[in-house]
Amino acid sequence: MSKNITLPGLIDPHVHLRDPGQTTKEDFLSGTSAALAGGYTTVMDMPNNVEPITTLERLEAKLAGARTQVVCDIGFHFGTLGDNFEEFPKVINKVMGLKVYLNVTTGNYIIDKPRLLDIYKAWPGQKPILLHAEDDVSDLVLSTLQAVPKATHICHVSSQAELEFVIKAKEAGLPITCGVTPHHLFLTDKDAERLGTFGHMKPFLKPQADQDFLWQHLGYIDVIESDHAPHTKAEKEGDTPPFGVPGLETTLPLMLTAEAEGRLTRAQLVEKLHTNPARIFGVTPDDATRIEVSMDEHEITNDALQTKAGWSPFAGRKLVGKVTRVVLRSQTVFENGQVLASPGSGRIL
Ligand code: DOR
Ligand code: ZN
Repeated sequence: MSKNITLPGLIDPHVHLRDPGQTTKEDFLSGTSAALAGGYTTVMDMPNNVEPITTLERLEAKLAGARTQVVCDIGFHFGTLGDNFEEFPKVINKVMGLKVYLNVTTGNYIIDKPRLLDIYKAWPGQKPILLHAEDDVSDLVLSTLQAVPKATHICHVSSQAELEFVIKAKEAGLPITCGVTPHHLFLTDKDAERLGTFGHMKPFLKPQADQDFLWQHLGYIDVIESDHAPHTKAEKEGDTPPFGVPGLETTLPLMLTAEAEGRLTRAQLVEKLHTNPARIFGVTPDDATRIEVSMDEHEITNDALQTKAGWSPFAGRKLVGKVTRVVLRSQTVFENGQVLASPGSGRIL
């Protein structure tokens, strides 16, 4: 029997929409269309574009492109390689946070590790610093946070050791939050063997024991973030496959299916996909924004996706939780697989 539920518009603080620079992978229109199809009404875009968003000028160019294209609300994180501190005060009121890469990933924007402390000192105000910080750099993160206790969000925590670090830091009273991706909650290194390069992302998929630890300590995980990282099939099948998997259209069905299986409660789901990201990144929730979701089972298929990438590591899975309608500020912007909003009607945060 068909059953529908209503949820608040979801908020994803971690997506890579590739615009400008790599719009064959994704662009602002296709990426925000994928967001609506997945039940997101707000996304926050990462700065690792081909030309990284490390100056006001590049940020303004990106904003100008987004302004005419987006169909949901969007905010932007600023980037740094540790050499653009004079730009920080110029952009602070135009961004949601500062992203810092401490490990290798797409774009290769890893910083010189001794620069981290100076970055923390230079970042003005209260907006979060988001870290790509895998297990090997946890000592550096801890000492930096102890010296300069600024709000820090650890992205895509994927292992027992990484989550144990976050738990310890939280218990020590440090201003730290963390996100976990759906691929780390629903895929393991065993799936990586089957998926080949389509299962390559950073951080890598981990053994079952790590995944079990994440599920057992869900209370410490503030945010489920998709880390939507679209790359074309051809690139993934090529000689130098880039890291990353698309995730905007599969995260909610995966989480609602987990809820149906008793792995988390509805309250936890809403907290991690809406309430906590809103609080951490300062998004004001809107009462007239909601999504309607069918709890009938459906199969994830590549050809039904809005993302230009056109593939998902979860294709073939039968899940509940298909978004049937998205209402943004009282307007129906998505219904039965169709984006109804006109490009540019989303807001820039
Ligand atoms: O797998 C990933 N892909 N991890 C990241 O940290 C970056 C992302 C991308 O930009 O493709
Ligand atoms: Zn990412």
